[in-house]
Amino acid sequence: MDQKEVFQEFTRCKEDPVYFMCNYVKVTHPIRGLVKFNLYPFQKRIVSEVQAHRFNILRKFRQAGCTTIAAAYSIWMAIFQQHKTIVIISKGDAESTELLDRIKLMYDELPSFLKPGLVESNKHTLKLASHSTIKSRPSGKQSGRSLAGSLLIVDEAAFIDNIDTIWAAVYPIISTGGRAFVLSTVNGIGNWYHETYEGAIAKENSFNAIDINWEEHPEYARHEGYEYLYDIMEAQDPPLSIEHWEEVTRSNISLKKWKQEYECAFLGTGETFIEGSILENLHTQINEEYYNKYNRRMRIWNDPDPQYDYLIACDVALGRERDYSAFHIINMYNGEQVAEFYSNKTPINDLAEIIAKEAGLYNTAYVFIERNTIGNNLIDWLFNVLEYENLWTDEKGDIGYQVTMKTREILLASMEELIRRNVIKINSGRTVQELLTFIITDTGRYEADAGQHDDLISSLSLAAFGLNNLIETTPLEHTKILHKESKPLGMSLIKKYPIKSFGGMTQEDLRWLMK
Ligand SMILES: Nc1ncnc2c1ncn2[C@@H]1O[C@H](COP(=O)(O)OP(=O)(O)OP(=O)(O)O)[C@@H](O)[C@H]1O
Ligand SMILES: [Mg+2]
Repeated sequence: MDQKEVFQEFTRCKEDPVYFMCNYVKVTHPIRGLVKFNLYPFQKRIVSEVQAHRFNILRKFRQAGCTTIAAAYSIWMAIFQQHKTIVIISKGDAESTELLDRIKLMYDELPSFLKPGLVESNKHTLKLASHSTIKSRPSGKQSGRSLAGSLLIVDEAAFIDNIDTIWAAVYPIISTGGRAFVLSTVNGIGNWYHETYEGAIAKENSFNAIDINWEEHPEYARHEGYEYLYDIMEAQDPPLSIEHWEEVTRSNISLKKWKQEYECAFLGTGETFIEGSILENLHTQINEEYYNKYNRRMRIWNDPDPQYDYLIACDVALGRERDYSAFHIINMYNGEQVAEFYSNKTPINDLAEIIAKEAGLYNTAYVFIERNTIGNNLIDWLFNVLEYENLWTDEKGDIGYQVTMKTREILLASMEELIRRNVIKINSGRTVQELLTFIITDTGRYEADAGQHDDLISSLSLAAFGLNNLIETTPLEHTKILHKESKPLGMSLIKKYPIKSFGGMTQEDLRWLMK
């Protein structure tokens, strides 16, 4: 190349990072060894999005080449832009060193006309004569200020515990002109990465969400023009067949891992109490069409319908902001959640009034209350002060349900069964969110994942148990006549505590109520 051609080539690389990467950057491919970083179409799309937006958040599948893109983009910026600091945060020291090694390799392999002099090169830093520096750092123990730069890259953000603190410290510094590129494989929900990604999708923050799909990867599904690649794969021992990639991969990992790592599904961490595929199904059934009542504390999907009976199940909190009082109103005929109440600021007497009012509106609904210390208070308000009588009683005639370690498991089992069998229809995204983060711990306990709540689950499990119990003790023929078009909840479900009496009424009175 003569002087003029060198200049033209340099300018072209400066203006177009994709051109630079495809023609001059080298990477180590797992099978093919050192090769040109000839970007796949979906990888080109990632680079152009990163170019077009200041803040980007990428949801990636495994081995998509994203760390490599971050590395190549960093070296491109450091070469062609002066006085820039590119900070890359990885989870641990090994990852940050490995990433900088990739960048150093890219640098070493460049032709000399694209290579500014090296000012400093060590385990964590690469400084070029362009006065631009790449700092590759592990996430732990970093103060936000030392991580500030012109471009902040966070690799595998969902796996970095203190990323929210780092972001909070870095944001004020990069907010005035810096850029950010956050990338990660999905790692459960409720973490900073998940929330920021969801926020980007909902346009609630300044991030641009980038989504990629494993089927776009020519090494995972057959794409025209990559026959040379398929030949190399076939030549392996044992041969790798592009046609069977999905099947083979899925057979080697759990469904949950597949969904999370390749289909990029946000699922609960740990083992969720409700099985993953059921949770996904619940997620697709969330109904955002509701209206609010009581200062947004209650969401209503369906108003009372005179032909149905309803059940209200309530889990009571102290009402002092720590945890939440929650109740669901369930249509006993079709199992649909028609309303949901959720508040951490409602005193017991107010809650009692709301329940009495709503129970009255919903055709004198059956009210199921957890009988703990505060629950007794609520029962007292409802029964003695407000004189609401349709309260569930146990076999001893005591109002409310005593939740112990053992009975809690029975309640949860009822809920799990009704959800699995599609008997209960959950409309609320809030309830589904709690189910997504309700896990089985290593010691076998069922509880909300760290920082998550389970008040809607407690009340839902009470509702499920109540539904089981009431339907078992209710003559269904009677309701069938009333509802010819749709099938009622025909259930032969676990019955642990049969109802003997009911707000002072006998079983016969109950049948009369069920009309
Ligand atoms: N277009 C490409 N051409 C050749 N090799 C590529 C290409 N894209 C990625 N690779 C190679 O694929 C491998 C995976 O890339 P990389 O580690 O960047 O992916 P990742 O998305 O960060 O993966 P992980 O999920 O493991 O973090 C690397 O060896 C990389 O060099
Ligand atoms: Mg990676």
